[in-house]
Amino acid sequence: MRYLGPRTAAYYERMHKTLFSTTVEDYRPVIKKGNGVWVEDIDGNQFLDFTSQVGIIGSGQCPEEVVSAIGEQARFATGIISNDFQFSAVHGRGALLGEEVSPVALAEKLIELAPVPYPKKVIFEVSGATAVSAAAKLCVLARPNAPFFAAFDKAFHGRHGYSLDLSSSKQVHKLLHQEGLRVVRLPFPKRGAAFRDFLKLLPQDYPLSVLFVEIVQGEGGINIPDLKLLNAIRRYAAEVGALFVVDEVQTGLGRTGKLFASEYLNLPPDMIILSKALGGGLPLGAVIARTDILPAGDLPKGAHSGTMPASPLAVAAALANLKILSDPVLLKEVKKLGKYLVEGLWKIAHSNRNILDVDSLGGLMIGVELVSKKICEEVICACLSEEPGLLLIGAGQKTIRFMPPLIVTKEEIDLALSIFKKALNTLV
Ligand SMILES: Cc1ncc(COP(=O)(O)O)c(C=O)c1O
Repeated sequence: MRYLGPRTAAYYERMHKTLFSTTVEDYRPVIKKGNGVWVEDIDGNQFLDFTSQVGIIGSGQCPEEVVSAIGEQARFATGIISNDFQFSAVHGRGALLGEEVSPVALAEKLIELAPVPYPKKVIFEVSGATAVSAAAKLCVLARPNAPFFAAFDKAFHGRHGYSLDLSSSKQVHKLLHQEGLRVVRLPFPKRGAAFRDFLKLLPQDYPLSVLFVEIVQGEGGINIPDLKLLNAIRRYAAEVGALFVVDEVQTGLGRTGKLFASEYLNLPPDMIILSKALGGGLPLGAVIARTDILPAGDLPKGAHSGTMPASPLAVAAALANLKILSDPVLLKEVKKLGKYLVEGLWKIAHSNRNILDVDSLGGLMIGVELVSKKICEEVICACLSEEPGLLLIGAGQKTIRFMPPLIVTKEEIDLALSIFKKALNTLV
């Protein structure tokens, strides 16, 4: 492959000797640095990144605001175990000049922004999976006699603990797992599905107690819900007193054209889980949950904690990052650009039989379904081989995700579309 230069090949040789297997594919570039929507690999090749690194850099690579906030925080404290010792510093320069950086300040911001109009508090975590596991703990406390949890078919909520019990997108994820929670699998409320299909899979002898939901399924294949049906399910959960927990690890913070995809619901959720884009590239997760669902409105002291959640640099990065992502001007632009990208992809689809569908709920989380897994992988590789290249990543079996950073420009979208079209044509 054109872009796999000698440094990349040598790097992968060392990687195979030293790192246990993950999901890295060695046809992917080894990235040296990035700027906005662009990344450069260690052989000097340039790529437009339309993966946002699977959503972790909503505000792009190295935004000045996030970099300056991290730099300023590093002058105060880099390592505080915030579940044992809180920290608080007022920044003297950078994007957060004159503002307090602390776990409390970040929690206050999330409480202000989250569309959960009840008394609520925040648990910080280090990743999506650990945040989902923490949310599940809250559900266990809130519904101590709950015989089962429910989640959708093809759901992905993470690869650890309770989060893996709730996931079902790929068999391989469960290979080394022993189930803990009893999870009933319900059909995803896709277009064309019926409410009765959902109801008939619920066990008749127990009421539904907890439902974990991705508004748009990411890993499972960019599956878009029928909003009317999803809202009917939301209403049903409220009627039977079931907790409705929205995993916004991938959809959160502007990705779907709204700050929270939960804003597409007519009734707010009981909990929202965030990670990925929250930390501006640094590891951070958060659960924003109603307190009135819990006995005494809180967790028993010591029942949940950890060493790394809400570390100082991640909190500073998140506060600066939220300023970028919660800007209504940016969100309006994300909606517009999302529509523009979908239209551009449909234009390509009309003249290419390899594309079966282009779909999104809105914003910059778009799925392009291809005829087969093989073609999907070939297109992704062909996009990498163009000059400049285009980074794309798959979802589900044969879908390609288009998820550029939310600061992408129309010109960058045009360029990505032309690379994608060219790559598709090389297959023919
Ligand atoms: C919806 C959703 N939930 C949870 C996770 C798990 O997050 P992490 O990989 O940070 O554990 C992911 C990761 O892709 C996700 O998309």
